[in-house]
Amino acid sequence: MTPIELMNEAIKATKKSHAPYSNFHVGAALLTEDGRIYHGANIETSSYSLTICAERTALFSAFIQGERNFKAIAITSDKATYCPPCGACRQVLLDLCGKDLEVILLDNDNTPKVYKISELIPHSFGEEFLNR
Ligand code: THU
Repeated sequence: MTPIELMNEAIKATKKSHAPYSNFHVGAALLTEDGRIYHGANIETSSYSLTICAERTALFSAFIQGERNFKAIAITSDKATYCPPCGACRQVLLDLCGKDLEVILLDNDNTPKVYKISELIPHSFGEEFLNR
């Protein structure tokens, strides 16, 4: 699975978004180590702050299916093809996928760029701070 192929899955996932308030449709495609792909899309509610982002719907959907080993996630939106994950999603991705997760984003020329989640959330909090 190439970065472009995974990004094409994220583009497909934008169609699953429910975003009647922002009209900003985000799609995510999460790739497991053994090659399965889970789509995610943002889901908004009338109580705006209860919205959940595309990255977390993808990850939680995979997680409840028993997936624990993740290789990469591609993210994009219909309004801004370069759509980096919000701070909350960075924390959740780091916690549940580990520091080597690849985050695939389109640049302004629509070329996929690959980042490590650890470079997107430097000086991060993690389980190593708990139970000291
Ligand atoms: N959104 C995501 O799905 N992922 C992000 O990382 C950033 C923001 C969604 C939340 C909301 O439905 C819409 O984009 C506008 O903020």
